Amino acid sequence: MSTSVCLLGGLLGLFLLVPVLMAPTQASMCPPLRTLNDSLSHRRRYMKHNFPINYTIRVHQKEVFKLSNISRMRLRVKGLDELVLQRLWFQVNQGVLKKIIRVMPERHPSRPYTAELERRFRDAEGVFVQSQPAEVFQQELPESIQNIWDCLTEEPDRVPESSWQFASPKSLLDNFLRTMHCLFRECFPTGTCNRTTAASHWRTGMNKP
Ligand SMILES: *[C@@H]1O[C@H](CO)[C@@H](O)[C@H](O)[C@H]1NC(C)=O
Ligand SMILES: *[C@@H]1O[C@H](CO)[C@@H](O)[C@H](O)[C@H]1NC(C)=O
Ligand SMILES: *[C@@H]1O[C@H](CO)[C@@H](O)[C@H](O)[C@H]1NC(C)=O
Ligand SMILES: *[C@@H]1O[C@H](CO)[C@@H](O)[C@H](O)[C@H]1NC(C)=O
Repeated sequence: MSTSVCLLGGLLGLFLLVPVLMAPTQASMCPPLRTLNDSLSHRRRYMKHNFPINYTIRVHQKEVFKLSNISRMRLRVKGLDELVLQRLWFQVNQGVLKKIIRVMPERHPSRPYTAELERRFRDAEGVFVQSQPAEVFQQELPESIQNIWDCLTEEPDRVPESSWQFASPKSLLDNFLRTMHCLFRECFPTGTCNRTTAASHWRTGMNKP
């Protein structure tokens, strides 16, 4: 008796969860993301001009997160929920911002800009977390995404040498901005990314010998 009640409860729970887990980007995300978008429009000045020519920082390979990564994941991971990609975007860029700030001395001319950017990013993350039911964040990730997640959260001294990569702060923020436009399309209707074009780019790439 109690088993079947549990089962029924479980099934009911599943049915109730499905629409919840597929909730689209909430409109509440747009104001904080637009504020971030505004900050990012100054990235050339603060992330290029205030650094030595060709300056790069060391980041985890998985922190180089581009549009091509997104289209590849959409293609390879069946039934990939947009929310999972959005969570990954927050995880990646949290690490990116931290690493950029870490290389800047206290009096670096780009430091206030970067600190402000990070504050705005955290605000957006706070709204993101609040705009979704808590279950969303306990949901198991698809295996390939979980693997990336594990790499990103690995202790730095346990990351193998071959997993580090050098990238310029400006290029990291370029990726940050483009992938934001792609993953939060509801907030950036003029963004250049959509599923169709992303997927076809990838297919074109695969056809190359
Ligand atoms: C994002 O910022 C750019 C300036 O870099 C601006 O042209 C664009 O309108 C902004 N998008 C939104 C949705 O605010
Ligand atoms: C910067 O990188 C470019 C392209 O890799 C190279 O041609 C140029 O010489 C580099 N400049 C300096 C100052 O290292
Ligand atoms: C994105 O793709 C590049 C290869 O193009 C890879 O090195 C990097 O690890 C990928 N990033 C993620 C988050 O999967
Ligand atoms: C994707 O974007 C292209 C232009 O970049 C547009 O022609 C096409 O209609 C868009 N597709 C969807 C599904 O929005």
